[in-house]
Amino acid sequence: MRVPRTLACAVTAAALGLAGCSAEPPQGVTSAPGPVASTSTPSATPTVTPSATPTPSATTTPTPTVDTPPKDTRKGAQRATPYEVNGIIVVSKKHRITAAYGPEHPTGPYHLEAVAAKALARMTAAAKADGVRIRVHSGYRDWASQNASYQRALKNYPQNISFYAPAGASEHQTGLAVDLWDGVTWSLPMANTATGKWLFAHAHEYGFILRYPNGKAKITGYHYEPWHYRYIGRADAVKFGNNKLTLEEYLGLA
Ligand code: DAL
Ligand code: ZN
Repeated sequence: MRVPRTLACAVTAAALGLAGCSAEPPQGVTSAPGPVASTSTPSATPTVTPSATPTPSATTTPTPTVDTPPKDTRKGAQRATPYEVNGIIVVSKKHRITAAYGPEHPTGPYHLEAVAAKALARMTAAAKADGVRIRVHSGYRDWASQNASYQRALKNYPQNISFYAPAGASEHQTGLAVDLWDGVTWSLPMANTATGKWLFAHAHEYGFILRYPNGKAKITGYHYEPWHYRYIGRADAVKFGNNKLTLEEYLGLA
């Protein structure tokens, strides 16, 4: 049975020696300069230049694997169970979950779902063998901490709200999503660090996809986030090798 989790913030800050809770998507670490941290102009929604995105591989973009996904007919408390297509959980602004949902087998310091935690450990070890450091900026977040983060952003960073999921619309509540970095460079510049580039090239081999690719906000509902990786399993993730596809397109939802 899925149990509600009440941890406000999955111990990330302590593990990383950061001040405060890293439930804040772009503003969790403010030392890194970057468009996301800017609050000075009303039109400060970050513009991502092509150079901020590592060059995709030449893999062909696959066509959706699901012709007609099931309708999301859940209402009210039924949304304690997430919407799924072909065994893949979909949590987004269009497919929300209630506060009652959380990882079935929360594992490790970031309370990730067990399969995701194991895959992350494998991926981190592989990156290390390549001389690349992967650190977790944020793992599982419960409904309440997501809500607090979103409300704070709405008030303080409204121009950057497309980086923030309303409570119930965040994959972090599933324990299947992680925000990754090198422990130094956060926000959009993370894309061009060795860690950002390594993840961009290899994450799918471990079952993770870049969930919010550049230029796909109309489909995903969120701004490009080079740090946000979602575990969907290797068999499906390898089809995302070039990071141009969104989960919505893959599952026939867009
Ligand atoms: N930053 C992503 C959208 C989240 O909060 O889930
Ligand atoms: Zn994230």
